[in-house]
Amino acid sequence: MKLTLKVWRQAGPKAQGKIVDYPVSDVSEDMSFLEMLDVLNDDLVRKGDEPIAFDHDCREGICGTCSLFINGEAHGPGRGITTCQLHMRKFKDGDTIYVEPWRAKGFPVIKDLVTNRSSFDRIQAAGGFVSVNTSGNLVDGNAVPIPKQDADKAMDAAACIGCGACVATCPNGSAMLFVAAKVSQFSLLPQGRPEAKRRALAMVEQMDKEGFGNCSNTGACEIECPKEISLEHIARLNREYLVATVTKE
Ligand code: SF4
Ligand code: FES
Repeated sequence: MKLTLKVWRQAGPKAQGKIVDYPVSDVSEDMSFLEMLDVLNDDLVRKGDEPIAFDHDCREGICGTCSLFINGEAHGPGRGITTCQLHMRKFKDGDTIYVEPWRAKGFPVIKDLVTNRSSFDRIQAAGGFVSVNTSGNLVDGNAVPIPKQDADKAMDAAACIGCGACVATCPNGSAMLFVAAKVSQFSLLPQGRPEAKRRALAMVEQMDKEGFGNCSNTGACEIECPKEISLEHIARLNREYLVATVTKE
């Protein structure tokens, strides 16, 4: 396949960015999108040009770092996959493909296609954990009975890989689906209940501090989420937050 890539290039956080055209040829339909970018970067390096900076780590849909906006869609065409799981067979010979970084106030561009998503780490650190007594008085987790449907829903929420596609897709740059997944993961389990109120309040407060917008109610986040996190979790977050607010001491 021959393709024309239109890639966002930006030398640094404060630099003016622009779209640059790159013709690529001999693209196999079996390549992943990131492998295609690797080949382009090899060519650029061979010519003495600066390679395109993009994030990646696991390349198997687990780490959430390979976050690209491709032809106006987070993680490109296809549902339930990350950019590293996207294959070139989704495109046609002669296609023009726009490749851009996440665009959101909470994810400033570091360089080219790489954004700073440490805001998610700070939201997680604000309350996305369970405090466990490790003094030797531990209760075996398996000794606490949990209804199967709750365990399943908690597992579904825990599938969130923190990629940020929900934010990039939302017209308001809202992080509600991410925060909802992290809150739900614990709120559905007995181990998460003692800190549930503090968790919901702290994570929402940090989300607001980081500059993420309000939920736009479009549902676009659920559609573009590579882990198909359900909007149902946002409803649960809203309930958790409301109860925590009205019963705050
Ligand atoms: S909710 Fe989905 S889109 Fe948002 S960070 Fe988690 S995995 Fe990514
Ligand atoms: S590189 Fe880890 S999810 Fe894509």
